[in-house]
Amino acid sequence: MSERQRRKLDHVRLAVAGPGARAGGAGWEDVHLVHRSLPELATHEIDLRTSICGVPLARPVMINAMTGGAPGVTAINRDLAAAAAELGLAMAVGSQTAGLREPEVVESYRVVRRVNPRGVILANLGSDATPEQARAAVEMVEADLLQLHLNAPQELRMREGDRDFRGRLERIARIVQELSVPVVVKECGFGVSRETARQLYEAGVRAIDVSGRGGTNFVWIEDRRAGVVEGDPGLEGWGLPAACALAEVAALDLSGLELIASGGIRHGTDAAKALALGARAVAVAGPVLARQQREGAAGVRAYLEGLLADLQTACLLCGARDLAALQRQPVVITGLVGEWCRLRGVDLAALANRSQP
Ligand code: FNR
Repeated sequence: MSERQRRKLDHVRLAVAGPGARAGGAGWEDVHLVHRSLPELATHEIDLRTSICGVPLARPVMINAMTGGAPGVTAINRDLAAAAAELGLAMAVGSQTAGLREPEVVESYRVVRRVNPRGVILANLGSDATPEQARAAVEMVEADLLQLHLNAPQELRMREGDRDFRGRLERIARIVQELSVPVVVKECGFGVSRETARQLYEAGVRAIDVSGRGGTNFVWIEDRRAGVVEGDPGLEGWGLPAACALAEVAALDLSGLELIASGGIRHGTDAAKALALGARAVAVAGPVLARQQREGAAGVRAYLEGLLADLQTACLLCGARDLAALQRQPVVITGLVGEWCRLRGVDLAALANRSQP
């Protein structure tokens, strides 16, 4: 087994074992929706269809990028794709660098398209990719969109990781220009700040997954892989809490910029809060993998069905019939996230006093 293939298996094992697989620290608990005692709605009226860069999504929840690249993970992607197909959810594959270099692992990615021939699938590569690699990754899974991931903290904690991050924005801009499918730039649990979002926007990016801190923690994972027993708490807690990242990037209000929220989204109410703050969709990784490891495709489906049902309940209890209505709801932000937003110039009073016509 190559070192890269062993790394893929380590990531799965440690992501499930790690503290980030459980909730906490993403800040969703500081975001509050306002209850309506007279919602004047029936559950069957709630319609949460959405789209990302013109690609329609039946539901605003997706399975985020995780794996591929080792023969041992083909079964994981098969189970995730089966659940995605049954529930009509978009799904991203894990980084395809391995698939571009090692033909024997291509099947671990392609299985996702085979199991879900008509579903929305996102390809995934690092931000150092070339347009040729981007095209090949898209072709490999017949993807509808491409994710380019940013993960500098993780790379720096990996013995074999990148140390030079120059020129990434230029590479992203070239891919956005040359690729035939839309590009989503995503973090990997460290959060896109408003400064980064603005840089990406100016480079032509029109979809960002803020993927903030508080869920799966790749500094913790890489420290454990490297045999570090007690890591630097400042680095193991690095990044913007997911709710802070989303609130500050949404407040930029850049015309045509579409947001996906991820990082510590565990429950339907987390999803409802993120959508109310301005995300067009939310994405979940760690807990989906944990359920797959314990219970296979059926467990993944049960978890996501529960999350979708609770999201619908939260929408009804706010009186929101669709995503547009949810995004007009008042959102009260307190605690650490509120303090962060206040210091970063997010208009908390305007958010808390929005009113649905
Ligand atoms: C990931 N993630 C990830 N992201 C990416 O863009 N490319 C990748 O190859 C991977 N690999 C990967 C492996 C495993 C095992 C996990 C759990 C996650 C990151 C993922 O897409 C997401 O951004 C973070 O995990 C934060 O979301 P959660 O896990 O808190 O819901």
